[in-house]
Amino acid sequence: MKQILILTAVAVTLATPAFSADEAVLASYKKHCAACHGADGKGQTTMGKKVSCKDYSDAKVTAEVKDDEALKAVKEGLKDKAGKELMKPFSAKLSDDEIKALVAHLKTFAKK
Ligand code: HEC
Repeated sequence: MKQILILTAVAVTLATPAFSADEAVLASYKKHCAACHGADGKGQTTMGKKVSCKDYSDAKVTAEVKDDEALKAVKEGLKDKAGKELMKPFSAKLSDDEIKALVAHLKTFAKK
């Protein structure tokens, strides 16, 4: 009986990741994206105001975000019409899957 309990305890420990996927995305968002887009997605940070970030807590704004365009924008960066850099390219730092998860995270602000 005791052995079964120990085995169960070991199995549960192994099956529980130290970091859940959501926490990893949140940590990555805070590290790479929140400086401009804000912890709440509203873009009302010093940097966000400077580069005119949109309010991603507004469902009308997130509705216009196409996943493929968003992936490309975050990977390759965004420039304004005058060629001034608005968002830097993240392709060297993040994988496509990480970027997709971060874009999905940005869109959740409008659902809260
Ligand atoms: C240096 C500031 C800055 C940082 C850092 C930044 N962004 Fe942006 N981002 C912008 C600006 C400015 C725009 C254009 C205006 C807007 O859509 O808010 C933009 C646009 C976007 C868009 C819309 C693209 C489209 O197709 O219209 C997405 C999605 C996005 N950012 C996601 C992210 C993610 C994910 C991160 C973190 C990996 C990030 N941003 C980091 C400034 C930034």
